[in-house]
This record gives sequence, structure tokens and C-alpha cells, in this order.
Amino acid sequence: MTELMTSIEQIVRAAGDMMRRAFDAPDRPAYSLKGQQDYLTVTDGAVEQFVREQIAVRFPGDGVLGEEAGGAVDGPRLWIVDPIDGTANFARQIPHFCISLGLMVEGRIEAGAIYEPMHDELYIAERGKGAWLNGKPMRVSTIEELTAATVEVGWSTRIPVATYLTMAGKAAHAGCSVRRAGSGSLGLAYVAAGRTEGYAEPHINAWDVAAGLLLVTEAGGRINDFWANDGVRVGNEVLVTNAALAASLSALTGIRLAP
Ligand code: IPD
Repeated sequence: MTELMTSIEQIVRAAGDMMRRAFDAPDRPAYSLKGQQDYLTVTDGAVEQFVREQIAVRFPGDGVLGEEAGGAVDGPRLWIVDPIDGTANFARQIPHFCISLGLMVEGRIEAGAIYEPMHDELYIAERGKGAWLNGKPMRVSTIEELTAATVEVGWSTRIPVATYLTMAGKAAHAGCSVRRAGSGSLGLAYVAAGRTEGYAEPHINAWDVAAGLLLVTEAGGRINDFWANDGVRVGNEVLVTNAALAASLSALTGIRLAP
């Protein structure tokens, strides 16, 4: 493993330890609400601060864009971090959350990792070199019928409820098993790992998908051009799929896939 990938793994595993300790603490993670269904815990800020410190020491001069503290996005090398993706799950004692960390160089994600601490699952990828789950190569699933497919449709208060229901409804009517597990990053990782066939969301932020988009392409799947229209700053719609259902899921969701 390269020095870069070793650093990424060390950072996300240490961040995961912080989350696991907070999750298991007898007083449980205390939370506040930033808005409707928009949870925040002190651990989000603490983990992001830890990641920022690690990057400053290991990669001095690199920029950092984080969900909690923001950051400038104009330098050549940018780390994009969601300290806890699935914060609502974390706050409500549901063990389905992760850290997502991606490295963008000159506008392209070159490396990334998602670590899910409660099941000790490390998803990691480097451009052109593949994607691995706990050391085993990942491939997207080969399921080619919608009636056998599982698709996750993400939701947030940033979009109208009707938009979400239409997308989820179309997938359900087409015969898909539709789910929403509350972590967009893990939703993308699950497609890369072949556990589900697609993840779609009408709007999601860069920190939720920076690592996952690379995981999916390195595992042989398809993605939309999330970075178009200033996606790094303002977010965008997202669709990732296995290869076999790419055309069908693109038609169902109305989200065009990159070539
Ligand atoms: C959210 C989760 C959710 C997705 C939202 C995200 P957070 O991130 O990933 O599954 O649907 O778009 O904002 O708040 O848990 O970091």
C-alpha cells in the first residue's frame, strides 16, 4: 500500500475509534438539531477537527472541505471529509454511520475511504488501482433485473418531499426493493460492494459522496457527473449503479450517467 493510502486508512480508523467510543459511552451521544431532521452531535465537530489536524501534519498545505467547518475549495489538492455521515443514526443509537474522506487533485478524486466503525468495515479505493472492503477486492453486483434489485433513495429536507416520493415510487413500481438507511456515503459503498444495485438522491453534498463515487467506479459501477455545475461547492443530484442496471436506473431516476 502506498504511503498516501496508509495515511488515509490510519486517519479514518482513528476517527472511527472516536465515534465508537462516543456511541458506546454510558451517557450516549447528546445531540442538537440544526433544522428539521438535521442532527448534530459534539462528536461530529471533534472528529472533523481531528481529521483537519492529521491532514495539516501529514499533508501540509493541502486544503480541507468539511461538513462542519466548511473550507475553501480552490487549491490544487483538497481533502473532502464528512466526519460522521449518518449523524441521525449515530445520535439515535442506530449503528449505521461512517466517516468519509476523499482526496481531490485538480478537480478529480484520486483516493478515498469510508470507515464504518460499528462493524469494522473499511472501504478504500485509489484511482486506477481498485477498491477493497477489508482487504478484499470489491465488485458491483451483476444483478440485471429490476425485480431483483435493491435501490436506496436518499432524502433530506433540502428537497421537496414530493420529489423524493416520486423517485422512490418509480423505483418501487418498477419492482425494486427500495430502502433508505440514512447514510449516503454507506449507500454508495454498498453499491461498490455489490450489496445493492443503486443509490440515488435528488440533492446531496460533496462530503457525502467524494469517497463513494471513486469506490463505485473502481468497483466497476457507473456514476453521474456529480462534480458538474460546481458540485463541490453546492452539491448536486447523485446516481450510482451497477453496470447491468445503469440504463434502467438512469431512466427511472431521470439522472444521466457519465459515459
Ligand atoms: C446525510 C445523510 C443522508 C443523506 C443526506 C445527507 P449527514 O448526511 O448522508 O443519508 O440522504 O443527503 O445530508 O447529515 O448524516 O452527514
